[in-house]
Amino acid sequence: MQTFNTIADLRRYLGDCRAAGRTVGLVPTMGALHEGHASLVRRSVAENDVTVVSIFLNPTQFNDKKDLERYPRTLEADCRLLETCGGNVVAFAPSVSEVYPEPDTRQFSYPPTDSVMEGAFRPGHFNGVCQIVSKLFMYVEPDRAYFGEKDYQQIAVIRRMVADLGFRLQIVPCPVVREESGLALSSRNSLLTPEERTLAANIYRVLRESIALHGTVQQTHDYVVTTLNAIPGLEVQYYNIVDGDTLADVTTWDAPSIVGCITVYCGATPIRLIDHIRYK
Ligand code: PAJ
Repeated sequence: MQTFNTIADLRRYLGDCRAAGRTVGLVPTMGALHEGHASLVRRSVAENDVTVVSIFLNPTQFNDKKDLERYPRTLEADCRLLETCGGNVVAFAPSVSEVYPEPDTRQFSYPPTDSVMEGAFRPGHFNGVCQIVSKLFMYVEPDRAYFGEKDYQQIAVIRRMVADLGFRLQIVPCPVVREESGLALSSRNSLLTPEERTLAANIYRVLRESIALHGTVQQTHDYVVTTLNAIPGLEVQYYNIVDGDTLADVTTWDAPSIVGCITVYCGATPIRLIDHIRYK
């Protein structure tokens, strides 16, 4: 598999692809790749002639420097996993100075999508995500870009950015890949002990149970928070039941699309885990 480290080399390669009439898919990642990422890559391979997988641990989206420091870095294993995805896949793994030759002072603001939930608890996070994703869109000019519903809010923010800046590309949302236990695959799962991993599986179990409850929005919310907080080692940071498009809180089940978005602290470190469930 070819790996490019500079924007110029990547552009040269993609220029040749375009001249030959090939379509291009982009899968942005921060590395530490797992089957969740691989599902996005395989989808892109099926739908495009060329797939660019960016592997870049973007410092501007980390408001917690400890989180950035302990983030797993596994470039060699990442490349091996990409080799198994078939098709025409290339990696783009630039340095921080290549992407940010000077500090990025651009400010993005798409409320309420970027101001609630992750936006409220991780100030600046989505601004950093918009900085890097907009740069990747400009370097690659993809026909389609693939994002996991694992980060449900991220897709809503990026859709707003694409509409705002007029990028001509299709955003393709992809379903969450889970372990057999129900735990959503995440690069941060490798930071959990085996016991903490078992603990973390309760998150999706309780989310699923909350559907079967058939209660009001308030009852459903309270059931999830109370049940998870009663499990030693788990602490809910927030659980919001929101309109699936605008991410504004809902109080009834009337909106056409409704999801519950959760973030839970798990274990001793603790590790911050996010997940969601669709009610409608
Ligand atoms: P990262 O966390 O590496 O995730 C890259 C992509 O993989 C995201 O679109 C994410 O939603 C998707 N993904 C992760 N786990 C998944 C799972 N279990 N099932 C399906 N998809 C999954 O998200 C980011 O990186 C960054 O914010 C990025 C967009 C790359 C900007 O830096």
